Amino acid sequence: MAADVIDGKAFAAKVRGQVAEHVAALKEAHDLQPGLAVVLVGSDPASEVYVRSKGKMTVEVGMKSVEHRLEADTSEADLLAVIDQLNNDPTIHGILCQLPLPGHLDEDLVINSIDPAKDVDGFHISNVGLLGTGQKAMVPCTPLGCLMMLRDYHGSLSGMDAVVIGRSNIVGKPMANLLLGDSCTVTIAHSRTKDLAEVVGRADIVVAAVGRPEMVPGDWIKEGATVIDVGINRIERDGKKKLVGDVDYDSCAARAGAITPVPGGVGPMTIACLLANTLTAACRANN
Ligand code: GUN
Repeated sequence: MAADVIDGKAFAAKVRGQVAEHVAALKEAHDLQPGLAVVLVGSDPASEVYVRSKGKMTVEVGMKSVEHRLEADTSEADLLAVIDQLNNDPTIHGILCQLPLPGHLDEDLVINSIDPAKDVDGFHISNVGLLGTGQKAMVPCTPLGCLMMLRDYHGSLSGMDAVVIGRSNIVGKPMANLLLGDSCTVTIAHSRTKDLAEVVGRADIVVAAVGRPEMVPGDWIKEGATVIDVGINRIERDGKKKLVGDVDYDSCAARAGAITPVPGGVGPMTIACLLANTLTAACRANN
């Protein structure tokens, strides 16, 4: 039987609609407008696309959107000064510094200079620690979006076997923590994992977040499993540019019970969760 296609685009539109309603209510009740600042250093083309899309959707839900575009050779001191100014700006509730940063900048230092209460990416070491210990944290947007889709589809995830392929700080590790929080039995697989096919074959839930085009073939997938594809890979096939995920969609869809497409799966949910996190940050700041 063909897999159910989990429509991240539609789900994200619903989440943005709910955020917009809350934003309107905050304005009405407290004369408060949530504000999101995005800092982009340099002009990485993929980052430019994300930043433009984030700005557009921030405005669409009624929030204030601010962009700081800095030259690729900006010094660490100058970048930290911009973040310090945003940390102290009461009209800004969320700060996102687009990654990757140019090589001369210390990513950990920069991320940890953001006020944890405004860290809508959930990358600050305080938020990582809060999530890891099951406390109230700002949760990274991509894994949060994946979790929302899984909960929406399955209801409870309790007792399910989940395999996360990829151990990045942005997706793999927080995803594993979130699934653990929902009482899954979690395995984190990565490039050194022995017999990845066997590990993936045991999973009720597979989250692929490796950044390698179509690396998970359908015959690794357990019949009826749910496949969440975090990959966004630009490839060229038959002379045409194409966007593909980290799983081979057609063969995985033939075995899975449910699957997210690329595009239109995880991607739109990431921005919706960023807006939801910004709303949360604004509400907490107002309390
Ligand atoms: N680069 C790729 N994904 C992300 C993300 O979720 N947040 C930030 N800040 N940079 C990214």
